[in-house]
Amino acid sequence: MKRIKIFDTTLRDGEQSPGCSMNLKEKIDVARQLERLNVDVIEAGFAIASQGDFNSIREIANVVKNATIASLSRAVPKDIQTAYEAVKNAKKPRIHTFIATSDIHMTYKLKMKPEEVLAQASAMVKYAKSLCEDIEFSAEDASRSNPEFLYRILEAVIKAGATVVNIPDTVGYTTPDEFYNLIKGIRENVSNIHRAEISVHCHNDLGLAVANSLSAIRAGASQVECTVNGIGERAGNAALEEIVMAIDTRKDFYQMHTNIDTQQIFHTSRLITKVTGNRVQNNKAIVGENAFAHESGIHQHGMLANKGTYEIMTPESVGISKNNLVLGKHSGRHALLERVNALGYQLSPEKLDEIFIEFKQLADKKKVIYDRDIEALIQEKAGEIENAYKLSHFVINSGNTITSTANIMLVKNEENYEAVSHGHGPVDAAFKAIESIIGNRFELEDYTLKAVTEGEDALGEAMVKVKFGEGLWNGYGLSTDVIEASIQAYLNAINKGLHFGELIKSQV
Ligand code: KIV
Ligand code: ZN
Repeated sequence: MKRIKIFDTTLRDGEQSPGCSMNLKEKIDVARQLERLNVDVIEAGFAIASQGDFNSIREIANVVKNATIASLSRAVPKDIQTAYEAVKNAKKPRIHTFIATSDIHMTYKLKMKPEEVLAQASAMVKYAKSLCEDIEFSAEDASRSNPEFLYRILEAVIKAGATVVNIPDTVGYTTPDEFYNLIKGIRENVSNIHRAEISVHCHNDLGLAVANSLSAIRAGASQVECTVNGIGERAGNAALEEIVMAIDTRKDFYQMHTNIDTQQIFHTSRLITKVTGNRVQNNKAIVGENAFAHESGIHQHGMLANKGTYEIMTPESVGISKNNLVLGKHSGRHALLERVNALGYQLSPEKLDEIFIEFKQLADKKKVIYDRDIEALIQEKAGEIENAYKLSHFVINSGNTITSTANIMLVKNEENYEAVSHGHGPVDAAFKAIESIIGNRFELEDYTLKAVTEGEDALGEAMVKVKFGEGLWNGYGLSTDVIEASIQAYLNAINKGLHFGELIKSQV
């Protein structure tokens, strides 16, 4: 069976989409999880874009052990040099350089003639090759480019040393049959194509990104670029989990496989939801809330008789645990450790101690603790920031005939800060009290609240997006009390803004 390599661009194309930015610590957590998922390539960022991007790529290059680490760069010397500086300490570094090849991009964006674009692409790949062995070249807007020109430029960059040639459907315009023919045409018309790997990179503007990518691998592409949960510019990129599970579930048809540890898919999806603050829709394939739910009586009857009647893959195969009722208030540290490991997390003994304390507190409030609860506790802990404002306690007075009042006490570096505020409802009053302590510099852009599991005592998971200065910061809060979850989420976003915003300023 042929192997398809998975090139993950969640940290570059995914992070580029509005409201999906991540801080350094979150990017490293994501990179570590991508390594557990066993992706072949992690595109860690666009090194020239900002000092923050550069630093995170360099840090990821230092910590990741198995995957290739790539940085994007335009086909200009300064970008390529910076990309190389960022990835050079990786075990397997790659420079990914691109230039647009469609008439519309060359004329209006680059203001260059096709021959100039071809010469620059070839010269820049040659330059990149002088720094790094592994070079990927992307022909931006390839699907709307003149195929004859595309063949020529690909031949030239392979001659100049490109090891991978990427064919992006930058604006999500192509269709599965058309894209199949484009890849087939490249294989038949680029004389030295056997010396490079063919990659594809599809956007989802027409909802065809996954279908187009799968069509391309049938035509001979051997690397697919994608993002977790399909996040990315506009309608997003091809969703990693859908491509991987299509290849896996239909190996009888594709006769291909990937190296992905599919049981890590669900955790990875949850992590991306948490760090970007963007939930997937309930009916999202593979990782949506309802992806494995069988509601109708006929379906349930069929499932009881034989699961194969309505289930083409199991929830366990993507890491959704069927072991629902896991732990209770009498469970010990060892039992928790076993569950944590079974869920695919490796925690230091100190982190496990912290989670254990929270687990015991939760077990006092909640009869049964599900895997999803444990996972939420771990992920909430991962988002904590040192020396930050923490909630000490709060009192809310609210009702439909009175103005809501919140009395909040925060603590930072062992000092207490207290404020009382009124608001339109308890959450508004609480947020205003926080602002009157920290300063009214924050704008709430988005706020969602959802139960982590079923039941009246379920943990509530609040997510907020807060605008502060130049940045948009995601916050995550978790509690059996939804007001407390909301306060925690708001504080988490503000702490990130204060901490990382200051860091960014000091780096510029
Ligand atoms: O969509 C696109 O064309 C890209 C390239 C830079 C690979 O993201
Ligand atoms: Zn893209």
